[in-house]
Amino acid sequence: MTDTTISETNVADRPIRPDGMPAHYFQLDAAETMAWDLLENGAKSFKQPFHTPVLATVDEDGAPQARTIVMREADRETRILRGNTDQRAPKARQLAAESRVQLLFYDVDVKVQIRVTAKAEFLTGGDRRNEAWVASAPGSKVCYLAQGAPGSEHDGPTSGLPDFADNGQRVANSELEAGLKNFAIIVFHVEALDWLYLDSKGHRRAQFDYASGESRWVIP
Ligand SMILES: Cc1cc2nc3c(=O)[nH]c(=O)nc-3n(C[C@H](O)[C@H](O)[C@H](O)COP(=O)(O)O)c2cc1C
Repeated sequence: MTDTTISETNVADRPIRPDGMPAHYFQLDAAETMAWDLLENGAKSFKQPFHTPVLATVDEDGAPQARTIVMREADRETRILRGNTDQRAPKARQLAAESRVQLLFYDVDVKVQIRVTAKAEFLTGGDRRNEAWVASAPGSKVCYLAQGAPGSEHDGPTSGLPDFADNGQRVANSELEAGLKNFAIIVFHVEALDWLYLDSKGHRRAQFDYASGESRWVIP
């Protein structure tokens, strides 16, 4: 018997469902459900690790650009995620030139990483964007009062906020409305998920491609 035969026999004999392991360890649909549970719960609570993924774009030179953003919305039915941002931020230009992005999530407690492949839609007006503004907390709205674009140089350390809004001062709602002109939303149309689950008995990885409708296990 050759080594190859031995290893093939071992693989075939391995139980598909190891004792005590959760369904997502051996069922594709359970892995997908878990992924969307994490995404939806992450958008609902700032305490969840999935609330603050990394958004990766490419810039005008083709170089990668990654930054944390807050997930404001996640919906498995429409396969849409949403974040808020400043229209003046460099990522606005990057997304106008290249709408393909990845969002990277990791939850250290459940030991799951998800890479979301999506097309980003950058909205600077319209009902959806205006509703997102109305739903924003005053503490979030105040950021959009910054007097220059995110990333623009300043002659000293600064929040960029006008004096009346600096140092954590309470800003009247009427004053906050001036930030609306800088406010945008990014709607992420999810095209694929790459789910990686870490386990000492053997990691598991699955991919869900919504364009083709195919899903599969892959080697982690
Ligand atoms: C915890 C955390 C949450 C953040 N949330 C957002 C966000 O929701 N939207 C956003 O535009 N930037 C957010 N930022 C700031 C971005 O990471 C980034 O610094 C900024 O948007 C400028 O990015 P850009 O130069 O690539 O456009 C967040 C940063 C941190 C650390």
